[in-house]
Amino acid sequence: MIYRPIYPPSILGVMGSGQLGRMFTHSAAKLGYQVHCYSPIFDSPTKYAGATEFVGKYTDLNKLGEFLDSVDALTFEFENIPEEALLFIEEYIETEGLRVFPSPKVIRISNNRETEKNFFRKIGIPVTNFLSLQGKFTDINKLSDIKFPAILKTNQFGYDGKGQRKYSTREEFLTDLISITNFDHILEEEVPFDIEISVIGARFPNGKIVTYPASKNIHKNHILDLTIHPANISEKLKKEAEEHTKNLLEKIDYIGVLGLEFFLKDDLLLGNEFAPRPHNSGHFTMDSANFSQFDLQVLCLTGIVDDLSLKTFPSVMKNMVGDEFFKEKETLKKLIENSEYYIHLYQKKEVISGRKMGHINYLGEFKDNLFLF
Ligand SMILES: Nc1ncnc2c1ncn2[C@@H]1O[C@H](COP(=O)(O)OP(=O)(O)O)[C@@H](O)[C@H]1O
Ligand SMILES: [Mg+2]
Repeated sequence: MIYRPIYPPSILGVMGSGQLGRMFTHSAAKLGYQVHCYSPIFDSPTKYAGATEFVGKYTDLNKLGEFLDSVDALTFEFENIPEEALLFIEEYIETEGLRVFPSPKVIRISNNRETEKNFFRKIGIPVTNFLSLQGKFTDINKLSDIKFPAILKTNQFGYDGKGQRKYSTREEFLTDLISITNFDHILEEEVPFDIEISVIGARFPNGKIVTYPASKNIHKNHILDLTIHPANISEKLKKEAEEHTKNLLEKIDYIGVLGLEFFLKDDLLLGNEFAPRPHNSGHFTMDSANFSQFDLQVLCLTGIVDDLSLKTFPSVMKNMVGDEFFKEKETLKKLIENSEYYIHLYQKKEVISGRKMGHINYLGEFKDNLFLF
């Protein structure tokens, strides 16, 4: 299929209105596009970046229709969207010829852990051993295939470790199991990984693929804390992670930007999950790459270029979670003054524990105590 380029000034739509939509809006505005966003939230981070806000439930198809009528193309910054809304968007693709990248088909795969992991397997990305649990679980023998500790994960709507529970032993799991009658979960073996890494990749409408080198990710309380770019792993492993990402982009017929997470154990890369949008671990690209992941999201959606060459520099991204950096006004001042730090705040109205309030990009190699002020 040949896609015509969508030149500025056109209107780019984004489902969701959080910080990812905000950073998408900044990139779109640089090239002279207007952004419209859709979500149930008023006065969102995306609106404050200059987007026109359409507010409605994802299942309010009248409101959603008004929004879709107003845009020249559509992308996602939030993918946990009900099936009803995805079907409605698909109707728009068919009847109105609306451009939607990535496609609802891809969103469906990424929204369900089991479907996602089965897809990884099918295309040759190894995954950790897991068991599918649906409805009432009766066949206890199946548990013998799973080594404990294991993690019970909801198939849908999980993020930042939400919807997950770890069981150290089979007995512990069986005790809990009795109370659950409506499983839509996987039970996944815990991987004693050495490190976690991720690759951000993008595929243009003409099929050309670009990837940034892999980064290393460190989580705190199940929330991404640090991304160190590039990951300090062998060239062979870096190449393998990029090949897996390219393979996924191609086989799923993806257009747009995605982030693919891996566990690395010894020399084995295991695919964990992918996000069908720019990924938190790709925020370093805003200050240490020639094109940021949000620039790529705009360029892939509009197709005004077909290919480009990416350059990145060593950097470290630190998430600002909860009130960590807001207790002392001095801290912000110090960060802004220091020329090695780039600060990005998301303009969220309330500081809540565990909420991502912003991030800091440090230009240079990782060292200890980088973010102690
Ligand atoms: N099977 C596993 N083995 C070890 N750690 C895991 C496993 N699954 C998840 N984790 C840890 O929990 C984090 C969040 O889990 P993930 O599956 O990525 O869900 P989400 O990011 O959607 O909450 C991972 O980045 C990893 O640190
Ligand atoms: Mg994850």
